[in-house]
Amino acid sequence: GDYGGRFRPQVHFSAPKQFMSDPNGLFRDENDTWHLYYQYNPRDLKFGRPHWGHATSQDLYHWENQAVALSPPNDDIGLFSGSIVMDKNNTSGLFPNQTNGVVAIYVGFLSFPVPLIFVCADYEKTLSETLSDGSAGPQTQALAYSRDGGYTFTPFKHNPVIDSEARHFRDPKVVLFQDRWILLVAYSQEFNMGIFSSPNLINWTHESNFSLHGLIGSQWECPNLVHLPYIDEKGQKQNESVWTLFMSIDPGAPLGGSAVQYYPGTFNGTHFKATDSVARTVDSAKDYYAMQFFNGLPKDEAVSMAWASNWQYASEAPTDLEKWRGTMSLPRRHYMTKTEDVGLKLVSWPYNLQHVMGETIASKNSVSKKTIAIDFSEVDSNAIYWEINATGIPGKETIGEPVSLNFTLINPSTLEYVRGGYYFGARHLIDFGGDTPLFLDRGGARGFDNVFFTDKFFVSSAHYHNTWSLSGVLDRSIMEVFLNRGLDTATTLYFTSQPLTVMLLSVSDLPEGMRVSIHVNGLKSAWN
Ligand code: FRU
Repeated sequence: GDYGGRFRPQVHFSAPKQFMSDPNGLFRDENDTWHLYYQYNPRDLKFGRPHWGHATSQDLYHWENQAVALSPPNDDIGLFSGSIVMDKNNTSGLFPNQTNGVVAIYVGFLSFPVPLIFVCADYEKTLSETLSDGSAGPQTQALAYSRDGGYTFTPFKHNPVIDSEARHFRDPKVVLFQDRWILLVAYSQEFNMGIFSSPNLINWTHESNFSLHGLIGSQWECPNLVHLPYIDEKGQKQNESVWTLFMSIDPGAPLGGSAVQYYPGTFNGTHFKATDSVARTVDSAKDYYAMQFFNGLPKDEAVSMAWASNWQYASEAPTDLEKWRGTMSLPRRHYMTKTEDVGLKLVSWPYNLQHVMGETIASKNSVSKKTIAIDFSEVDSNAIYWEINATGIPGKETIGEPVSLNFTLINPSTLEYVRGGYYFGARHLIDFGGDTPLFLDRGGARGFDNVFFTDKFFVSSAHYHNTWSLSGVLDRSIMEVFLNRGLDTATTLYFTSQPLTVMLLSVSDLPEGMRVSIHVNGLKSAWN
């Protein structure tokens, strides 16, 4: 793979070539190596007949591409998304003399390249010769095991391990609950998340369904169940943690296409119960999907990655010019907190970004009533991290004129840009706390013609305790912003013919006591 192209992210993961989508099988092994597998089409720059690509890392930024870990047995089968656990105690019996057994459970999908409708006649035969004993399908849950720590896998002889009459039945996520394995799987078009349990990863019992809750969309995919640390409004870590169910919706997300939603709740080993009926999404823009959490982490660590794209245009994005398509989000660390407006709320923050942090480009402690320009054209990676902090924001009674804050990331010759802005104390919203949502606009960096690649995003995010912050990572064709230290996030792809090299920041007249600061750092390429 050539990681030098102008669209190629330098601190985000992308596959060496061809088409990549969902992260799969995320786990950290007993030597603290992080494993990332992903939906991968080795033959084309578009979605089709997925394999499991594989990469490993010591820090989640510097990746070593590995050989494809799982390949379909024949051309009619695709290996869809799934997850991995370490079977340290050999509960499966597949690892007689080792403590680092690795088990992948994933979807075997019989349909490629023949459209489903033509498959029926040969269907049972093909299934029994390949993945299954021929009972149902076409999407079944299959198991493969690895005796070399997750590099090569052998399909289990008696696949599938879970079967169903449902046509859309996929994305098994396995986690350990006390001494039992729990598996979540989506009955995608029935809007059910099936919850199964097993003592050995092979024989599964259906325990319950979590159904029709929150945003429904048109399909449910990629469930996750995580025990999230809880940090209260005052920043105090609490002993309790919050079971949280995540799922991905596609199509039919609020902004169109794909999005991830989550439900804080309780889990007793067989049933998940949501705390309330509030609909919550993880990310407020259009390029954040199929989020998955790493297995194999200590109890109070929750780390995820997502695929930074949207099925509405995933196979169209213009990076095919460089012979690759598909970017992962930054690795994110999470916890649960509480806010006045929505109650329980997920916090997301880049995981140990210091592994790629470069030199300070600008650091201004007080910005007011002017536009400042920060030139980062000297940064080799073209990738930067920034942080804008506002403190001393007056209460809504005293703010007077609204305060505006606008930023633009631009190429001064082509005038291509992405931008955003925020208004503190907007008059017409005073009864609602006074702030407008953050807006983001990638209209100056479209790069290809696609009606679903919409420009404008609004991230609703009030300020708390008179402070506000906006942090961001800009990385050649992807921007991720984090508001208020991760209370809200927005991830957007953008495409420009020339790199963005200047950041403009304009702030209107500030009321007394309010201060705005900005810090910008270059990021070091993880690929060169
Ligand atoms: C989510 C998804 C999954 C499926 C996979 C196929 O993006 O649709 O439901 O397993 O992609 O690549």
